[in-house]
Amino acid sequence: MPFPADQVFGPADQRTWTAVDDYVAGLLSPDDEALEQAIAGAADAGLPAIQVSPPQGKLLALLARSIGARTALEFGTLGGYSTIWLGRALPDDGWLITLEQDPSYADVARANIERAGLAAKVEIRVGAALETLPALEEDGAGPFDLVFIDADKANTPAYFAWSLERTRPGGLIVADNVVRGGALVDESDDDPAIVAQRRFHEALAAEPRVEATTIQTVGGKGYDGLAIALVGK
Ligand code: SAH
Ligand code: DHB
Ligand code: MG
Repeated sequence: MPFPADQVFGPADQRTWTAVDDYVAGLLSPDDEALEQAIAGAADAGLPAIQVSPPQGKLLALLARSIGARTALEFGTLGGYSTIWLGRALPDDGWLITLEQDPSYADVARANIERAGLAAKVEIRVGAALETLPALEEDGAGPFDLVFIDADKANTPAYFAWSLERTRPGGLIVADNVVRGGALVDESDDDPAIVAQRRFHEALAAEPRVEATTIQTVGGKGYDGLAIALVGK
């Protein structure tokens, strides 16, 4: 049987998902200058518009506040949109380290983060995350209260493994783009970015130190999903 996702959903569904995202964000996270400027600044600079949706950004902030997060680590900054949501959710003495491979994206993000008034709380480390993590380790960064994994998808399992060792008990590890239109369960899909999401879920299942679930999402960015793992006490 062919994998059904493409046949089941069409442009009309996408329009509805986007409209509902707009409705939810309009009521529950209304227009905000710094976030709007972050999106506009990224678009002007030609960055791909693949940031989390406004409701997802709010979810990240609510998760951080729910656990009283003070320290956070993000894989994949892009223009700093999710970074701003997370940075705002941390207390004044909190800090957030965000890892971005592309120096020009990091420049855009830095400007957006400054405009949002978060420069003192947020540090961007530029380079491929697997190459910048050792320096982070040497600097004694962590333990982290919340980790958001949203960079190159093939490395999600590696980022999870690294983060798990450095997330405090009661902390959360959240990973974006783990469902990818349902490709997660399409065993014939051998795209490394997809295979990695299966390996990631197997790691979550096998790991006694976390309790995890994945929530499928539809919205302005289509059909995807977020994994949320609570690190055990
Ligand atoms: N978290 C952002 C979106 C991130 S998009 C938001 O929601 O606003 C994914 C980002 O990961 C891109 O900016 C991409 O350049 C970056 N990236 C890709 N490979 C990477 C790597 N190996 N290390 C660090 N960042 C990487
Ligand atoms: C895409 C979406 C994302 O949320 C992301 O982090 C990377 C890529 C995409 O739709 O291509
Ligand atoms: Mg993402």
